[in-house]
Amino acid sequence: MKSCKVYIAGHTGMVGRAVVRSLERAGYGDVITADRCTIDLRDQRSVQEFFATKKPDIVIDAAARVGGILANRNFPYQFLMENLQIQNNLIDSSLDHNVQKFIFIASSCIYPESAPQPLREENLLSGPLENNTEAYAVAKIAGVKACEAIRQQYQKQFFSLVPTNLYGSFDTFGAEKSHVIPAMIRKFDEAKVNGNTPVTLWGSGRPFREFLHVDDLADAVKFAIENKMEENLYNVGTGSDLTIKALAELIQNIVGHTGEIFWDSSKPDGTARKLMDVSKLKNKGWSSSVELQDGLCKTYEWYSNNKKYI
Ligand SMILES: NC(=O)c1ccc[n+]([C@@H]2O[C@H](COP(=O)([O-])OP(=O)(O)OC[C@H]3O[C@@H](n4cnc5c(N)ncnc54)[C@H](OP(=O)(O)O)[C@@H]3O)[C@@H](O)[C@H]2O)c1
Repeated sequence: MKSCKVYIAGHTGMVGRAVVRSLERAGYGDVITADRCTIDLRDQRSVQEFFATKKPDIVIDAAARVGGILANRNFPYQFLMENLQIQNNLIDSSLDHNVQKFIFIASSCIYPESAPQPLREENLLSGPLENNTEAYAVAKIAGVKACEAIRQQYQKQFFSLVPTNLYGSFDTFGAEKSHVIPAMIRKFDEAKVNGNTPVTLWGSGRPFREFLHVDDLADAVKFAIENKMEENLYNVGTGSDLTIKALAELIQNIVGHTGEIFWDSSKPDGTARKLMDVSKLKNKGWSSSVELQDGLCKTYEWYSNNKKYI
């Protein structure tokens, strides 16, 4: 297995980098990457040519246009169309060039907004999606279904991992595109540097969310490469959640900010709760190992060392 050619699409992103680190640490000797200047994954012909030349055995699709609520609300067309183009090109080229295993990295936003908690793989397409991320989710569902169709029709190991909210090194800390953890780290750190000024956070702080360290997801990808995966869809998470308010207090403590926190309830909360049922992957033998407190400390350390470059 470790001599297989593994192509990681999106290796400059948070997930892709973590997968490269994990596979190289484990001794995989033929990890293939190519940045956006070499190959724009929206371009069908370049992707086909790349596969014809490189002939990967295994493909990990960690490439996508990704963003927080604001970015999703402002650019629904790009979130729908670019993600469809990227994943269609990768999936179709993988089928054409006889790739043995294709792992599609989906997202928990594929599940309906009012699906029963914790979210189970069977909840897919059982109701309407959350409004703010609908375009992104529709593209991701199309990717999941394309892999499922290939499994059914060609009996190939094409399947999807569905990670919960991720965080870790190389996350996006810029104000426009960031998710909740990097946004909070940046706000608390800047407020601390400015003399512990108050920090205003979006929403009420009441929604519950689950967070997975990106190194855990990379470990789950390695597990999925090395084991026979019988199903089409596997949730990847910790199986436990906390309120956004509790998360803010945890991050405030780690950063060492001592000012006040204000909640701006005029901003959207998103779904009230989003917790994954992780029993399917657990029953196969994989579970997460990075505790939230440790993962946040590592992430803040990374941010502190790199913030001048971000
Ligand atoms: N972050 C999360 O909390 C989270 C949660 C659940 C699921 N996921 C999923 O995990 C996957 C990776 O997310 P991430 O957080 O690692 O995102 P990211 O940091 O934004 O990385 C995205 C990667 O895709 C590449 N990419 C995008 N458009 C491209 C194009 N047209 N041509 C070539 N490369 C392109 C980016 O290249 P550039 O560096 O050149 O832009 C980058 O390498 C996505 O499928 C996402 O849906 C993420």
